[in-house]
Amino acid sequence: MCGIVGYIGKRDVVPILLDGLRRLEYRGYDSSGISALNKKQITTIKTVGKVKNLQHEINDTISSDQLSEFTVGIAHTRWATHGAPTEVNAHPHLDDSGKFAVVHNGIIENYVAIREQLNQKGHRFLSETDSEVIAHLIAECFDGDLAQAVAAALSKVEGTFGVAVIAVAEPSKMVVSRRGSPIVIGVGGREMLVASDVSALISYTKNVIYLHDNDLAVVTCDGVDLRSINNVPVSREIAKIDWDISAAEKGGYEHFMLKEIFEQPESLANAIRGRMDESIGTAILSGLRFTPKEMIEISRVTLAACGTSMHAGMVAEYFFEDLANLPASVEQAAEFRYRNPIIEPNTLVVAISQSGETADTLAAVREAKQKGAVVTGLCNVVGATIARETGRGIYLHAGPEIGVASTKAFTSQVAVMLMMALKLGRSRRLSVEDGISLVHEINKIPELIRATLAHSEEIKSIAEKYASAENFFYIGRGYLYPVALEGALKLKEISYIHAEGYHAAELKHGPIALLEEAVPVVALANDIAGKEKIIGNMQECCARKSPVIAVATEGDDSIDNHANDVIRVPASSKFTTPITTAVALQLFSYYVANKRGCEIDQPRNLAKSVTVE
Ligand code: G6P
Repeated sequence: MCGIVGYIGKRDVVPILLDGLRRLEYRGYDSSGISALNKKQITTIKTVGKVKNLQHEINDTISSDQLSEFTVGIAHTRWATHGAPTEVNAHPHLDDSGKFAVVHNGIIENYVAIREQLNQKGHRFLSETDSEVIAHLIAECFDGDLAQAVAAALSKVEGTFGVAVIAVAEPSKMVVSRRGSPIVIGVGGREMLVASDVSALISYTKNVIYLHDNDLAVVTCDGVDLRSINNVPVSREIAKIDWDISAAEKGGYEHFMLKEIFEQPESLANAIRGRMDESIGTAILSGLRFTPKEMIEISRVTLAACGTSMHAGMVAEYFFEDLANLPASVEQAAEFRYRNPIIEPNTLVVAISQSGETADTLAAVREAKQKGAVVTGLCNVVGATIARETGRGIYLHAGPEIGVASTKAFTSQVAVMLMMALKLGRSRRLSVEDGISLVHEINKIPELIRATLAHSEEIKSIAEKYASAENFFYIGRGYLYPVALEGALKLKEISYIHAEGYHAAELKHGPIALLEEAVPVVALANDIAGKEKIIGNMQECCARKSPVIAVATEGDDSIDNHANDVIRVPASSKFTTPITTAVALQLFSYYVANKRGCEIDQPRNLAKSVTVE
């Protein structure tokens, strides 16, 4: 959720740290800081706000001669949990002597107890954070060997961490470790980077080592010495990142979100490519590693996810029921392990997570495994913890999603789960012919998205017309009910407009009391089953003077008399309408937010990946 970056090597340390922080800014961004070490001391600079504030502060306080003396450095962008976003709460944190500096992602649950113990030993704390205790603990444990001190300190903490540490006593190394928060090491030629996310280091190297939980690495410019926190040697492969830095840049678009919306014909083509077997009308999803017997034995599908990924799961519920005749239900990942979910012997649990690092979804994976379920992961970020811990699953191949509001990951999740349902369906009631016709539909998705994006100018002018509204409702039915929830979420995330997604039939059980002229309703009225009913619901809204913005199928003018404005999407089957409709609603939110002058890629209070419960 926060971002970590570290560098040791032949180049100037600080510019690389700042570049990494800028690339991580989307993860958490209320404050930032760096600590860099020359042979004698650690220099630390922290500021509140964006990384550019930190850059200015560094320019004002450090001379270029000083800059060239640094041998190693660590840096952090923070998304506040314990303590307000202030300079003093920003990372890095140092011990009393200023000889150890630490950046930390995650939460130290027993920090109050540790703090009290250390207070009694004379340590003085400056911040309100949980993270500061790590620096003091390391100082307390240090006996000439930084790696041992870090290991000893981390063995005393409960909770989650990804940490990077530097110390005056050992100016040619960084020590990093993780439990629950990602750390990746970028391996270069006589230089090494560490980061919480590959996007911070991809412009320097594509060779990376993903740390596993409880790994500890001593990183020098020549190599990486890997062991566990308990000092048992471990070996991890060097993986190759298969995307380019340009994928993490705006490429001429005003915002990452807009770029990612427009990338969807390609991201969906990547999700589908090589995964369709037209000859027998099924999907090839080898990562699931199901034997035909295992496939047929699955008796229930449970989908665990958060946020937008949960909405994708809600669409997939319909897929699994309709295509594979399997009972399917979405669990809010945050509730999964606390409500004692019923896992039967042949329950398939699908953990859906763009980042593959969401704490609640990861906890659900662990709980489901514990209960003996078959657990698969649906992740976008390659090498992510959920992908690793499930060991079987499907990558989305959507490329890096930088905008905090998820767009292309959502549509790929829906498409991939449609393929999963097709595969499970073919192992039971779905005929070859029906399978083949669904393969054709899936293959058409990129083209359908292109046709949807072709309406962007019309969507923009409708969005701008309603951009000053302060409340919105989104309504849908059946396959489009979860899309209504997702449309409302997208709008509130980036425009800060209060928006609620409702099942169209539920509106009259309460929320209808809020309808009036100033409250527009977005009604998903595509030409699929349920359209007649939603027309009735639109009339209910019109009768309360709410302006109705309908999403409707191209060429279907039966909607026009019931709506003030109509957003068109291409004709497609019920299986693919959630994707086209979601894309139209992404554009709608984007243009509303842009008209309101919002910070679209980095909405206030949000983080791209939530690694705390
Ligand atoms: C955060 C993001 C959302 C995302 C959710 C789940 O809240 O802001 O956009 O949908 O986490 O993330 P995941 O990476 O697990 O899909």
